[in-house]
Amino acid sequence: MTDHDKTKEITTANRAAWEEAAPIHAKLNQAELVEQFSVSGFSCLDEIETKRLLALGVEGKDVAQVCCNNGQELLSVKNMGAARCVGFDGAQGFLDQARELARNGGLDVEFVCCDAYEIDEVYWNSFDLVTITIGVLSWMPDLGRFFAGVSKLIRPGGALFIYEQHPVLDMVEPAEAGVPLDWTASYFTKEPFVEVDGLDYFDGEKYDAKPATSFAHPMAEIIMAGISNGLGVEHFEEFPHHISNSWWNVEASGIGLPMCFTLVMRKPAA
Ligand SMILES: C[S@@+](CC[C@H](N)C(=O)[O-])C[C@H]1O[C@@H](n2cnc3c(N)ncnc32)[C@H](O)[C@@H]1O
Repeated sequence: MTDHDKTKEITTANRAAWEEAAPIHAKLNQAELVEQFSVSGFSCLDEIETKRLLALGVEGKDVAQVCCNNGQELLSVKNMGAARCVGFDGAQGFLDQARELARNGGLDVEFVCCDAYEIDEVYWNSFDLVTITIGVLSWMPDLGRFFAGVSKLIRPGGALFIYEQHPVLDMVEPAEAGVPLDWTASYFTKEPFVEVDGLDYFDGEKYDAKPATSFAHPMAEIIMAGISNGLGVEHFEEFPHHISNSWWNVEASGIGLPMCFTLVMRKPAA
């Protein structure tokens, strides 16, 4: 089996696990989000993401989000004044939720169901800004090929913005606040993590789930995957705050591990 086939096998299986999670997430947050997006200008984005997006300047820009889930972040970017917005995700169930939010908010945002490795070339060179946020990179078996695809979406002179969990968290088994840290994996592990008790990271409900496979990607590999695909580092910052809804134990430990980062990489102007 080629690396390409292995990646496809994993992302196809993961897609089924995400489809299964979609109605569970919807039960927890869709009604509230529908209400929130019916208010003009609503944003679910936190201060860090908002500040970075404002610094990049989203007003009037064409923006794509890869692995956009229920679209809440991209819809918030649209509410910040972005022009054309397109969200890509592999799970139709989440995109149905995204479309409902867009409809309710009267927001013209396009949502496309596809594997992140197979975004149609009609979208290449179409965006001033591509965003990837909170819980995406670890689902990518092949980081190099993922960044190659993402880079193709960006127009010359455009940027990639990443707001993600810090990969150091992959070393620790996530748990409730106060549970002592259980260091279970090397920072450099190549062993995939396979979860079979579900992807409800809101309520923590466990269910007999389809397997979901994720990967630890050290910070240097993330940055180099961008550089190897023609993107230059413009900004990089690590933070101690918590964005993942898991790893409450790391936050509560107070030992000062980085918990998330922002990274901006830019494609050279033509
Ligand atoms: C943790 S969620 C991202 C959350 C998002 N930042 C938010 O807060 O709503 C990960 C998303 O990535 C999508 N995903 C994972 N692997 C994918 C792939 N290979 N292609 C397309 N989408 C994928 C899942 O369907 C899911 O919606």
